[in-house]
Amino acid sequence: MIDLDKQQIEIARNNELATNNAERLSHKIIIDGKLVSAISEETIPVINPSNGGLIGQAPRCRSKDVDRAVKSSEKAFLYWKKIPARERGKIMMQAANRLEKRRREIETLLSLDTGNAIRTQAIPETSSAIELFYMFAGLAGELKGENFPPNMEHVLHYTTRDPIGIVGAIIPWNAPLFLMVAKIAPAIVAGNTVVLKTAEQAPLCVLLFSEILQEELPPGVLNVISGYGEEAGEPLVVHPKVRKITFTGSYEVGKEIMIKAASKLCPVTLELGGKNPNIILSDADLDIAIPGVIEGMRYTRQGQACTAGSRIYIHDKIYDKVIDGVVKRLSELRMGDALDELSDIGAIISEKQLKRTLHYMDLAVQSPSVKVLHGGHRPADPMLRNGFFYEPTLIEGLPIESPVCQEEIFGPVACAFSFNDFDTMMQSANNTPFGLSATLWTENLSRALQFVEEIDAGFVQVNQCVAPRANVSYGGLKMSGLGKEYAIDSMINHFTQSKTILINRGKSAHNHNC
Ligand code: NAI
Ligand code: MG
Repeated sequence: MIDLDKQQIEIARNNELATNNAERLSHKIIIDGKLVSAISEETIPVINPSNGGLIGQAPRCRSKDVDRAVKSSEKAFLYWKKIPARERGKIMMQAANRLEKRRREIETLLSLDTGNAIRTQAIPETSSAIELFYMFAGLAGELKGENFPPNMEHVLHYTTRDPIGIVGAIIPWNAPLFLMVAKIAPAIVAGNTVVLKTAEQAPLCVLLFSEILQEELPPGVLNVISGYGEEAGEPLVVHPKVRKITFTGSYEVGKEIMIKAASKLCPVTLELGGKNPNIILSDADLDIAIPGVIEGMRYTRQGQACTAGSRIYIHDKIYDKVIDGVVKRLSELRMGDALDELSDIGAIISEKQLKRTLHYMDLAVQSPSVKVLHGGHRPADPMLRNGFFYEPTLIEGLPIESPVCQEEIFGPVACAFSFNDFDTMMQSANNTPFGLSATLWTENLSRALQFVEEIDAGFVQVNQCVAPRANVSYGGLKMSGLGKEYAIDSMINHFTQSKTILINRGKSAHNHNC
């Protein structure tokens, strides 16, 4: 009982810290370095996924607020681009120190905003977001062009790496802080200014993070707006002054953004969906592969990850053993309020996304061959009734062509398949429009290398299935996206433009006898 009381006190304390910030940030956006009201007076309710309660309102920005943010970023760019790169890096480093100091506020609001469990998700995400921020701050000195050997007499030949201008960054809700840092940190360090549009489902944690950054950044370097995709995202994409778009989200929206950006020849970075294979060969070390299935599926983020290993291929010799091990571990995971430190699994972000999971499960159970090995329901616990909870679910027996096995569910549902022929399995693994991430578990080096060569995925792992992180270049092939993020190449390739310079010093130097 005493422990239970302690736990309730802890949840209440987390809740108080988070709700105070939510209230303070409600109805606000950031323009010119300050928290302000939007021009648009309409708002979008922000819901706590753990209990369906209202935690704040996000301004429903439209073109006028986009214009205002772009104007602010335009003015700031004139100044920011001229600051020496390492000085910009130092300012970003100081901003990261401030984030570090206020991390408890960030973690708790992240958890309240997204429904992601504080211990397993919000704390680690805050750490990786700050780490990524530090990393880009430290890379400021690497923004350099190239110097070429003269291929014309008396001509100095070099290239520069310059900021592009105003960057439009559009992020989703599933790992909002890490994904925002992946965009704003390299862009700002490289000398650009940014208009960031938060996701309508989880705007407040991003606003808090950005508010802290304002304590170091000059006004206008980072402006933050909120609103729906069509109303606030689209005007940002088509705005003539915005010269670069970086986006993470669905394939459908990514494609529309690319089409719209094309008319102004604006470069885009797109990080889109996946339907990723997690493959276990008969010689795999099951002590790591079995937990690797759980980690790989990102079950403790309710499967809401583009890298979720949602198609699990298991060699038939070890199939039963792996399934038994995975099911046992799934049954040990504790689902509960995201702000409860004891919860392993929190809530799905919204009713809409919960319905998406329910829809795919309806489809799955219509198949006569399907067997639900674990989960398949909303939890019975009355405490969880008002939140958007769904049990971690593992199913088998579906035909690979089923939409459940082909489309990104972005919920806690994975499909298992048994196989006995490597080549046939690889064909199936590659047979989706996506190409984001893939994992293989084996002790056989030759097979591992064959897998690396043959798999159509941009992020490939052997004997581990960890989430992307700082300094690991990450991005998708095929319909999973365009460009890489999280490492130095993303800063240089996506947030700078280059000039080629030829300077002819003439012959005068030869003509003087000095
Ligand atoms: P979405 O792609 O609609 O939204 C992502 C962001 O794009 C949000 O900020 C949204 O406001 C914005 N947006 C939407 N329409 C836009 C438009 N026409 N122009 C500019 N910006 C626009 O994703 P949503 O609706 O939140 O989730 C639907 C599905 O998308 C998920 O079930 C999942 O399959 C996929 N998704 C993939 C993510 C990833 O990490 N790759 C992240 C989030 C969603
Ligand atoms: Mg959408």
